Amino acid sequence: MFLKNAWYVAGTPDEIDAKPLGRKICGESIVFYRGAGGEVVALEDFCPHRGAPLSLGFVRDGELVCGYHGLQMGCDGKASSMPGQRVGGFPAVRRYAALERYGFLWVWPGDASQADPAKLHHLPWADDPQWAYGGGLYHIRCDYRLMIDNLMDLTHETYVHASSIGQKEIDEAAPKTVSRGDEVVTSRFMHNVSAPPFWKMALRGNGLADDVPVDRWQVCHFTPPGHVMIEVGVAHAGHGGYDAPADRKAASIVVDFITPETETSIWYFWGMARNFQPDNAELTTQIREGQGKIFGEDLEMLERQQQNLLAWPERQLLKLNIDAGGVLSRKVIDRLLAEERSPAPGRPVAPIVPAKGAV
Ligand code: FES
Ligand SMILES: [Fe+2]
Repeated sequence: MFLKNAWYVAGTPDEIDAKPLGRKICGESIVFYRGAGGEVVALEDFCPHRGAPLSLGFVRDGELVCGYHGLQMGCDGKASSMPGQRVGGFPAVRRYAALERYGFLWVWPGDASQADPAKLHHLPWADDPQWAYGGGLYHIRCDYRLMIDNLMDLTHETYVHASSIGQKEIDEAAPKTVSRGDEVVTSRFMHNVSAPPFWKMALRGNGLADDVPVDRWQVCHFTPPGHVMIEVGVAHAGHGGYDAPADRKAASIVVDFITPETETSIWYFWGMARNFQPDNAELTTQIREGQGKIFGEDLEMLERQQQNLLAWPERQLLKLNIDAGGVLSRKVIDRLLAEERSPAPGRPVAPIVPAKGAV
């Protein structure tokens, strides 16, 4: 089950620059493209003529043309023209609320009338020149909640990422988890440890010695529907750790947007935002490549875990103290799912209708 009335990252702007993008999100097949004003448009990826995917077509004068027999669709989801045909009576396709912000395309797969841009997850670093961002996208065949578990319990770094960000002290530092409304925060602090290879690289990237003891932190923030922002970093030991001055640490935010494709597959948008050396494009590339390799190590574990869970659905799993972040995040999702299915009394359930105009 997914939350439908929420903003999800659907892609990156470059993915619709040259041609339409077809992407299934929360079980909805959607085509994304740019309308006449350059705005992102999201329609049901289904041609009303014979059901061809509209994403195999092309954009002409800001309207999507089906690649099968040339039916041209307006941005409102209504057919606008077709060679040799009168299209006035053609059924419309659904239009989804969509927008472009913070370097991402966002879509609201549920009721478009509830799609308020103010509900978008705020990314304060995204428009700030003091910060740099690099990231990528993985398709993973697992339930989105397994990815949330993964990111809300970084104990696995010691084992899955032993050669880059793992270290035995992670196991030894017990995490602390709290729930604040819809947000779940799980934190772990390590003192006077040796920086693992990825963090040595980041220290050097910030012009700092990499061969001295450090204090290390990981503060994972889950917010619905599937965002996990992780404050991570190391500081030369004894200078305040998380609160150390900027010239004593290498700190960043691991950015994770987990967008369900189906019940058992996800689009995983990963990246890192940092506020040191923001103009150093070479460092951005180096960090992105390092992070991409590290995050790639999770794929096999998650996909094989999913296969096990599908094969043995009746098996009960354990909930240890390290699992608290994932467990509490799932509780938030379950509560919001229940609310979405039965809205508070007095609040009418809005019918699902195509959005009027761009959101
Ligand atoms: S299926 Fe699209 S025009 Fe025929
Ligand atoms: Fe991982």
